[in-house]
Amino acid sequence: MTEPETPRGPVQADLDPRDWPAFRSLAHRMLDDMIDHVAHVRDRPVWQPMPAALRAELHAPLDDEAAGLEAAYEDFSRLIAPYSTGNLHPLFMGWVHGGGNPAAMMGELLAAGLNANLGGRDHAPIELERQVIRWAARMLGFPDGAGGLMVTGSSMANFMAVLAARRHMLGPAVRRRGLGEARLVAYAQTGVHACLPRAMDMAGIGADCLRRIPADADRRMNLGALESQIAADLDAGLTPFLIAGTAGTVDSGAFDDLAGLARIARARGLWFHVDAAFGAFAALSPKLKGLVEGIANADSAAFDFHKWGQVQYDAGCLVVRDQQTLLDTFAQNADYLSQETRGLAAGAPWPCDLGPDLSRSFRALKVWMTIRTHGAEALGRVVEACCERAAELVARIADEPRLELLAPAPLNVVCFRVRDDRDADGLNHAVVIALQESGLAAPSTTRIGGALAIRCAFVNHRTVAADIHRFVDALLATADRLLAARDA
Ligand SMILES: Cc1ncc(COP(=O)(O)O)c(C=O)c1O
Repeated sequence: MTEPETPRGPVQADLDPRDWPAFRSLAHRMLDDMIDHVAHVRDRPVWQPMPAALRAELHAPLDDEAAGLEAAYEDFSRLIAPYSTGNLHPLFMGWVHGGGNPAAMMGELLAAGLNANLGGRDHAPIELERQVIRWAARMLGFPDGAGGLMVTGSSMANFMAVLAARRHMLGPAVRRRGLGEARLVAYAQTGVHACLPRAMDMAGIGADCLRRIPADADRRMNLGALESQIAADLDAGLTPFLIAGTAGTVDSGAFDDLAGLARIARARGLWFHVDAAFGAFAALSPKLKGLVEGIANADSAAFDFHKWGQVQYDAGCLVVRDQQTLLDTFAQNADYLSQETRGLAAGAPWPCDLGPDLSRSFRALKVWMTIRTHGAEALGRVVEACCERAAELVARIADEPRLELLAPAPLNVVCFRVRDDRDADGLNHAVVIALQESGLAAPSTTRIGGALAIRCAFVNHRTVAADIHRFVDALLATADRLLAARDA
């Protein structure tokens, strides 16, 4: 015999606060604390490692019991906020991390309040994303008819571009039957970001089918070598389908000759894509826009508002010359997603038909808030200021006999090292880690011609000239300390 069920009232599933005034007051405190967090960024270490005991607290089992928002916020303040990446800080110079900005922070809050799903349907948030895409297309000089999508980042945008190029070369059948006998090959320079070979891998083409064309001394793809490789691949019965130029290589900030690449792609009938992850914003600077000359002739371009655009993560963007190419690549029919001419299901084409995601967040709002608040010109000035910081660092390196520059720094990325006859790689590696752990500065490392380099990428609008000198002083003191310990 089964036990009689315990009588229960109706299930209560409402997650809204029981006490709205208490929620409001705590929420205001959270906002105030976060404003302080940004306003006083200079008073904190750039980064600090999370102590093991605190890390362990985040391994607590899934809890059935409610802790309440106050307790959750207390955990956030104690466990999370002090141990975040640190890229708000003006002396965070590692990798390519943008600093974000307070207007975009508020955009995130407002977007979370609306909780809109930007996969499709007829609503204002999608209209606003279209506006952001039109601005992006105009920034790059793309014609009417251009389209695009906000995505997580340039890794995703580059992947989508590879898929669009694949579809363009092989026609609609590739979407149903795959690559078949086709042996596609693409071209990029040796400094190409690792997400492009990965995109080739994910597209089923294979990472090795991305040919790495040697760069010249100025780190631009060698156009003669590109032409020869295309000719050799055609002779071998392969199908060239894509040239991927880079506007701002991750290692040294070099720009390919985009106009030259566009000409070759056009002459050969290949898709021309530009990975402009951080270089795209050079287009907003009257001084630097020559670097991206030719990008307007691309079929697609990937870039990140979360890098030089100073928008909070994540805010990647893909822009294509002809929106139809994205529809050709991604659009699907599904009965439960039928699009109407009136009602909430109107508003075609829906963003879910322009890319791989169905449900999508309102990323565009933080971009729009940034541009509305500061104007596009201000973003161009951030780019110029970052390049000035890089030039200031290069000048200081030239003044310091103990430092040597390892690659030209035409833009915002400086690769250099402390000279050391005994073990330069070991010393420079140790200097970078010690600087990070001290909380004074956060450069990263790379290898230039096999040598370990200290790499500083200036992407943060908060970095000022005095920071460069603070950084070099701290770096030299750290090297002295490490050398003294080594020789002791
Ligand atoms: C040139 C380049 N391409 C692509 C990427 C990948 O971008 P994301 O990290 O936004 O996916 C980066 C990241 O630094 C980059 O510098």
